[in-house]
Amino acid sequence: MSDVQFPNFSSKIDRPTSVKIQDFQRQGRLKHIIFGQQLTPLLMEKLCRSADKIRTMAKNPDGNAQLRNLLADKRAMLYFTQPSTRTFLSFMAACQILGITCNEVRDPKTSSEVKRESRTDSIRMFSSYFDVIIMRSQVEKFAEVCAYMMNELEEQEQRSVPIINAGAGSDEHPTQALLDMYTIFRSFNFESLSVNVSSELNQLKRRYPDLVSGPHQKTYLFCGDISRGRTVRSLATVLAQYPDVRMFFVSPDHPSLRLDSRLKQFLIGADVEVHEFASLDETIDGSPILSETDCFYMTRIQREHNTPEFESQLSQMDLSPFQLSLQRVAQLKSFAAILHPFPRDEVVGEIPPEVDRDPRAMYFRQARNGMWARAALLVHLFDASEDLFFAHSKSIERSV
Ligand code: CP
Repeated sequence: MSDVQFPNFSSKIDRPTSVKIQDFQRQGRLKHIIFGQQLTPLLMEKLCRSADKIRTMAKNPDGNAQLRNLLADKRAMLYFTQPSTRTFLSFMAACQILGITCNEVRDPKTSSEVKRESRTDSIRMFSSYFDVIIMRSQVEKFAEVCAYMMNELEEQEQRSVPIINAGAGSDEHPTQALLDMYTIFRSFNFESLSVNVSSELNQLKRRYPDLVSGPHQKTYLFCGDISRGRTVRSLATVLAQYPDVRMFFVSPDHPSLRLDSRLKQFLIGADVEVHEFASLDETIDGSPILSETDCFYMTRIQREHNTPEFESQLSQMDLSPFQLSLQRVAQLKSFAAILHPFPRDEVVGEIPPEVDRDPRAMYFRQARNGMWARAALLVHLFDASEDLFFAHSKSIERSV
């Protein structure tokens, strides 16, 4: 794919991700965000802290006014040529919170691509007018290639702007991993309970003696379209950086859907304990896998990637072993978090609406967390974290 689409960049594309990510950093900070692996535990902590500050400040008019001043001199291009609701709107809302002016291209038929302008020329044009390019494309590696192009322009002392990969083909979706991680941090922040609701924490500790705050020492269950779900790939690679992580992958046993061998090898190489199952009702060491799960991550079967042949195979498959139900939710731990990157498939019903009322259903909060987490990412990319912290402390001083 890389050779055909982007021959000029194939030598860069063909390197291991651990090497490539060095190209997207600058002095300990992100220059572009292309891969989930760029979200290290240290960076995640910083971004979560910033997201919490933005969230608090946005609760009052004074804080909102401070936030709107933070990046008011910046302009963002939202180049989304693949459908999106949450990623597009939460990035737009994040920009509005921070005072960033936005523009968008969603249909390339309205741009000069119809006059055979290349995609890379389009991106270079956007960089002439905007200060960041947030892009989603069905073309795998396109965001990565745009980041290399910006790096080359920088080397030539020409204008260059950060590239944010907002979803590339069935490849990666690093900012989804960012908001998933932010939701995981918030869901597993048990110490906050000890201040406010100590009896709740004590009860939890009695029932689950090994309970610790944070993403480590946890079991994550991924269900559905594991192979083609770019959100699974990005989140799993971020979680693999934490100690004592176990991952269960539950999917139909089909090469288009089950865990692909590259991701499996990567996770095993990162000391993750990996198990694969063909139903949510399976057991491990005599216990139901659901009762062992701390975080349940459901995904939709991504029919848009289906060939006609696979579509017909899929229509014969029984998907009920991969659907949540109230009975299955009842087996989860009392503090477990149920996540879904959304959209969910209304016809398949991998999470039926009756589950929404369960306090463990985090997916609507998860989507809203995307706005705060993406705002924190923009603050980081524009090196405005210190300004944010200063504005936050001023806003607190004024409110007391
Ligand atoms: N989760 C996610 O990427 O949603 P959208 O496709 O609606 O942006």
